[in-house]
Amino acid sequence: MRDYAKLQKDIDRTLGIDLTAYKEQQMRRRINQWLDRHKLASYDALIATLTTDRAHREKFIEYLTINTSSFFRDQRVFDVIEEVVLPAIGKLRRPRIWSAGASIGAEVYSIAMLLREGRYTPSLLLATDLDEAVLQKAKAGIYLPSQVDGLDPKYLNKYFTQLENGNWAIADSIKGMVVFKQHDLLKDPYERNFDLILCRNVFIYFTSTTQKRLITSFVQSLNPGGYFIVGSAEQIMDPASFGLERVSYCIYRKPA
Ligand SMILES: C[S@@+](CC[C@H](N)C(=O)[O-])C[C@H]1O[C@@H](n2cnc3c(N)ncnc32)[C@H](O)[C@@H]1O
Repeated sequence: MRDYAKLQKDIDRTLGIDLTAYKEQQMRRRINQWLDRHKLASYDALIATLTTDRAHREKFIEYLTINTSSFFRDQRVFDVIEEVVLPAIGKLRRPRIWSAGASIGAEVYSIAMLLREGRYTPSLLLATDLDEAVLQKAKAGIYLPSQVDGLDPKYLNKYFTQLENGNWAIADSIKGMVVFKQHDLLKDPYERNFDLILCRNVFIYFTSTTQKRLITSFVQSLNPGGYFIVGSAEQIMDPASFGLERVSYCIYRKPA
């Protein structure tokens, strides 16, 4: 028998990941697929392997947390960031910006390139993720050709160098703008006083109760006049109930 409640406790104990906050059906399906793929007969066999095999543990966390990302993912949103959000937050002071659930860094580096193009100087450009391994990839800033496929040549030519093996390395000047930190959105305290927070394609995996708790925390972390951006499947139906106003597709603002 596969006792999911026991697995939730075991995963929290061994990996520090609180599965109770994630949508159960989706997580169960993914974990069961993992068991089949690795020929593990039970949840207990999985926990035993996670405890003894470090490589398996890292791969499992990567699988569980779903790291899909890309540069300028959802161009419509980045157009509004470039044309509305950055001019608004950049004109008053040096903005503080947070990409939460940053994955491989494609989102935060897209923002960094826009800041550079617009000659904005942030006082903080923070990128956080739960998954330490994916943060290491983000910090390294090296991408497969498939990961920069579709990126506007204007950015590729200016801010990337192609390595001998065909991969693309992001410029040190862009990398140096970003502070990377391990941070669990479910358990760790949130920094405050941000002018822009992006949390895209992250809380889609959480239960609706958890989503509400997180949105409330993000709003508390925003300065008045600050912007909050979510993924296309995470649009907020009743922004006013969180003290937000809708600006455009996926983009909200805390009134000044
Ligand atoms: C699908 S990626 C989204 C990446 C990027 N924001 C984007 O939209 O392209 C989701 C990221 O959320 C991270 N994540 C999942 N649960 C998290 C948590 N509790 N705290 C922080 N990050 C989490 C995963 O590790 C993963 O890198």
